[in-house]
Amino acid sequence: MSEAKPLKGTISLPGDKSISHRSAMFSVLADGKSVVENVSDGGDVASTISILKQLGADINLDGTILTVNGKGLVNLHGKKLVLDCGNSGTSLRLFCGLLSGQNVKKVSLVGDASLSKRPQDRVVKPLQSMNVNIKSTKGFTPVVISEAILFGGLVESEVTSAQVKSAIILAALYALSPTIYIEEILTRDHTENMLRSMGAEIESIKTDEGFQVLVRPVVEKNLRPLNGIVPGDPSSAAFFGVAACLVPGSDIVLENILGNETRIGWIKVLQRMGANIEIVSKNKVFGEEVIDIHVKYSDLTATQISKDEIPSLIDELPILALAMAKAVGTSKVRDASELRVKESDRIDVVLSHLDAMGIQATPYDDGYDIVGTEADLKECMIEPHHDHRVAMTFIIANYLATQKFETVHQDIISTSFPSFFSLFSQLID
Ligand code: S3P
Repeated sequence: MSEAKPLKGTISLPGDKSISHRSAMFSVLADGKSVVENVSDGGDVASTISILKQLGADINLDGTILTVNGKGLVNLHGKKLVLDCGNSGTSLRLFCGLLSGQNVKKVSLVGDASLSKRPQDRVVKPLQSMNVNIKSTKGFTPVVISEAILFGGLVESEVTSAQVKSAIILAALYALSPTIYIEEILTRDHTENMLRSMGAEIESIKTDEGFQVLVRPVVEKNLRPLNGIVPGDPSSAAFFGVAACLVPGSDIVLENILGNETRIGWIKVLQRMGANIEIVSKNKVFGEEVIDIHVKYSDLTATQISKDEIPSLIDELPILALAMAKAVGTSKVRDASELRVKESDRIDVVLSHLDAMGIQATPYDDGYDIVGTEADLKECMIEPHHDHRVAMTFIIANYLATQKFETVHQDIISTSFPSFFSLFSQLID
């Protein structure tokens, strides 16, 4: 069989999705004008911006430049509004915290078919413990919020989730007293870094048991506007990073990527598997590290991934599953039951695609084993279940199988990464 064309060249990527959501939400709370460049052009961030507009914010995304005239900590308002988060769990969970301190009455947060199936009590319950006036519908959407007097105190995470942590931090800004949030494993800490860079009093403390975030209320103070360029999305970069490892002759540089340690677990795992990947540190934006990533074709060996690493690569597990399928030996992923409540059940959906491609894999409640093969992959029929990362993973897998890069499921992929197709085409041109 002929080989797939190698990936070659240097590219930059659209702005990180997590930081883009937060840039929009947080700059609305600042006093004054924020201009943020290279904001994610995906549908998820568009949902966040459109909801902020519905709530009266002066916010505009022109291409990838976000301009916001922030009107202070409490300036959003609405009554009996239905706010559509589309496919975006980050919008839904963070708005639960952000809206808890705003001038709102009975506003409902809803989403698409995928988001409607995802659990929301993970964020609703801890917010209720702070006296937030919030209710889910039997654990799911619609989630309905009205304003209330909020209390601080101790909030211990029951799930390892940056979305839940961020919601609590946002509510804590409006509470009557300080809040301490406790998590066992550090999840992405952009909310802490970005709000701190705007002047919020947030301390991150490492303890013997895990990590604490201490948030002091800011109601009497102002937050400074946000200005800067959002670094490229490392979760999007992972698709090209893994593809370059797997296609013989590949040699690429991914420039100006977010290098926050809580986001680049996939690079560490590929390095452990024997990949030729180098990281070059550059500067900082919004208190966040920026890096270049140099990846070359590599022979991979199997690895194991468990608890401590999971949050730093939770979104990259689907594409890492493809690396595991082409590695020598059996790879194991455990303590990743969160995969079952992402945009799809990523354990079932990823393994059913691998099975169709001729890869042997065993599912567990909280992960899987994947037996790597040197044999050619069979082409699979992609059934993404509204999940952008499943669609991108198996478009790349099919590229390995057929040497053809197909433009399919564009609507689903555009929630996070509309330029996925043009950038991949550029690299194999
Ligand atoms: C995100 C947190 C993660 C991640 C999601 C984005 C964020 O979700 O999977 O894509 O921006 O905070 P969890 O907090 O549910 O782990």
